[in-house]
Amino acid sequence: MDFRSIVAQGSALAQATTDSLLLILTPELTETKDPALDSLIKDARSGNDFELKTGRTLYVHRPQGVKSARVVLAVAADTSAKAFKAAVAKGLGVLKELGTSQVVVAPAQGYALTAAHAQALVVAASDLTYVYRQTKPSAPKAARLSKVTLACTEPDAAAVKDGVQQGQGVAAGVALARECANLPGNHCTPTYLGQEAKRLAKEFKNLQAEVLERAAIAKLGMGSFLSVTAGTAQPPKFIILRYNGAPKAQAPIVLVGKGITFDSGGISLKPGAGMDEMKYDMGGAASVLGTFRAVAELKPKVNLIGLIPTCENMPSGTATKPGDVVTSMSGQTIEILNTDAEGRLILCDALTYAERLKPAVVVDIATLTGACVIALGNQHSGLFSKDDALAEALLEAGKQAGDTAWRMPIDDEYAESLKSNFADLANVGGREGGAITAAVFLSKFAKAYRWAHLDIAGTAWKSGAAKSGTGRPVSLLTQFVLNQAAAGQDALAPLPEQSAKEAAGKTSTRKAVATRKSAAGKTAPRKAAARTVARKAGAKSAGSAA
Ligand code: BES
Ligand code: MN
Ligand code: ZN
Repeated sequence: MDFRSIVAQGSALAQATTDSLLLILTPELTETKDPALDSLIKDARSGNDFELKTGRTLYVHRPQGVKSARVVLAVAADTSAKAFKAAVAKGLGVLKELGTSQVVVAPAQGYALTAAHAQALVVAASDLTYVYRQTKPSAPKAARLSKVTLACTEPDAAAVKDGVQQGQGVAAGVALARECANLPGNHCTPTYLGQEAKRLAKEFKNLQAEVLERAAIAKLGMGSFLSVTAGTAQPPKFIILRYNGAPKAQAPIVLVGKGITFDSGGISLKPGAGMDEMKYDMGGAASVLGTFRAVAELKPKVNLIGLIPTCENMPSGTATKPGDVVTSMSGQTIEILNTDAEGRLILCDALTYAERLKPAVVVDIATLTGACVIALGNQHSGLFSKDDALAEALLEAGKQAGDTAWRMPIDDEYAESLKSNFADLANVGGREGGAITAAVFLSKFAKAYRWAHLDIAGTAWKSGAAKSGTGRPVSLLTQFVLNQAAAGQDALAPLPEQSAKEAAGKTSTRKAVATRKSAAGKTAPRKAAARTVARKAGAKSAGSAA
């Protein structure tokens, strides 16, 4: 789709050569200063055909004195970017069904448009015209709507132009994440995600992708990750994506995405109803790929690394059983009480791997718990972090991008329920506070750096008739990365060396005594001592490109 911005107001709107004109009003801002358009609005209001209430729209065909064949009025709650986005989506929704291919979107006189408004418009339009077709030949061809132009005032023009540009990068990332997520589990396998990462790196010269196979994953000691893949014939992959937009010495932002391409629950099998939706359990991975797609285009001055542990969670004679104990890459052993709590089992090893990247911050993104959906519904992603500055930065990015998160608690007290008689940790607590205990579990592997966890179980896809991946939280993550790049000296920096070492030291002491081999047998980790030495020396180890 083609997006532009133009400087046009008042009568220039009525004279614009376009198929359709979409006017965004608010209860306060109801005029365009074009006589024809303003009399149309007045007339519609006085005839009771159009009320100035949030979400209302009116379609007028071939109005007098207006060049465009179609005019749609849409009412936003206020002049915020969020309300603008909702009204634009409503208005474009009306036009989508018609034969229109180009639309000029114009706010009422007095609206101050910002980059956020422009980005919101681009993302909304792109979202609205997205059609899944890969496995549905009968799906409609490309949406008719192919050109969207945002009209603004001269003073707003520069910001609007920037916003349109940023919006296009974000929209492309969102679309990629949606497409990956929507692809069925038999198509979107771990192998497919690896190929998708490679394909991205081929398309964008500023990206690099590396895909580790089972042998390399085993060599790294990722016994927890590999325990999840024990029941399936699909080979697991560990994907590493890199974008270098800043000097090498600058600590990278690391994004870790849960890539379960199908979550049957394993031996702790899920009920049948709605199980198809567990193809979306790679939504975190999809959002990492989407963010890299956006960043590749927008080229912020940061270093970014994406880690995607990806596999299927299936039951079989070789599958991991409840009660099995496995050894994670960190050396901590885990009693798997429920094979359906598999996301944390693949993420914990990726979080340990992230230590060697000496990150500024690590953010993991995962469709992790049904409990998070119960807590927050579908509006906000769950945000868990002990780091206030990082949490604030993520919340703020979410607000800016219209892709919000809500902060949840992550106190150590919740760790009580993760105690096990047979391992350092159990992989589940009770039903209560399930999203929090999952986050607390992850925190045990993320002590060496600033870390946050986004539970996107409620936001990554929509159920029901409009079942589809949403591409969330690509907008939030991209905005966060762009903000960090723009912050320069004020960007989030790694923890002071000392506290990072201390924190890591705590787990290493534990590792020194943890000489037991993985119960799974196949995946005995390297000796804890060797690992500690390797970390101290900053040495590379097998399969790492750190
Ligand atoms: N992928 C699911 C989480 C999920 C469930 C996301 C429903 C969206 C909708 C995850 O792997 C899972 O199964 N979690 C369990 C954890 C439980 C066994 C402690 C859950 O939420 O039920
Ligand atoms: Mn599960
Ligand atoms: Zn899952």
